[in-house]
Amino acid sequence: MKFTVPGKWILVGEHAVVRGAPAIVAPLSSRSLILEESTELEASPLQTALEKIAETLPGLSEKFSRLKVSSDIPVQAGLGSSAALSVAVARYLEAHDFLPNEEILAKAQEFENIFHGSSSGLDLAAVSASGPIFFRRGEDPKPLTCAWTPKIYLHDSGTRSSTKECVEHVANQNRKDLDQLMAMAVDGARAALRLSEAEGISLLKDAILTAAKCFEEWGLMNAESAALTEKLYRAGALAVKPTGSGNGGFLLSLWENTPPEEFRGLPGF
Ligand code: MEV
Repeated sequence: MKFTVPGKWILVGEHAVVRGAPAIVAPLSSRSLILEESTELEASPLQTALEKIAETLPGLSEKFSRLKVSSDIPVQAGLGSSAALSVAVARYLEAHDFLPNEEILAKAQEFENIFHGSSSGLDLAAVSASGPIFFRRGEDPKPLTCAWTPKIYLHDSGTRSSTKECVEHVANQNRKDLDQLMAMAVDGARAALRLSEAEGISLLKDAILTAAKCFEEWGLMNAESAALTEKLYRAGALAVKPTGSGNGGFLLSLWENTPPEEFRGLPGF
């Protein structure tokens, strides 16, 4: 039995979502993680992460010693690799009758907290969804109404960061104003996607720029992300922001027209 789970990308709403603000997020279907039984295990950061999860399930250590995890979701890049691993393991437990179906998400959240500290559950909801969702902590995610498909691409800054450290860094600043600004970006993006492309694109651009401002104010733009942002604007991007916890990882860009091939990165949609 194979458990395949996609990555995720966040349009807007990072960090403020931890404190109850909404967010918009989507599965990244071009990248996925696979969990399967195998006798040929290879050392990798994800295999180590799986061992950390296994330590919390002492009765199952033998079963877990035969589980292999492979993935093309970059690790610590903001694309949901730990959420995908957590959901895959919870689904494995459910399939083997170690977990009732209705507890899959709660168990996955326990696993993700090992890596993220106190996660909002946003990434888990995204990798479990079949399309973009509107998410608020503690509520059922709602499928997002999209009247058009924005040209959104994801680009690797080449640097990696710890979600746990970024979440703590933001929480310690206690900037309620930035949480509110991020919530406004989410409202704007949601409204923009309900309009036609011609009417919605400048509203979506403003929403992404507002979210980008939050990342800057939180001090989560490292030099590599700033340099890549500049490059994307010079190539004609309308708006650029980090996607995920920031301080490196992947950036998201919005374009009016399909960008030149070298700037297409990973397509969001
Ligand atoms: C990380 O992908 C998203 C954050 O908002 C953390 C979380 O929601 O748990 C930074």
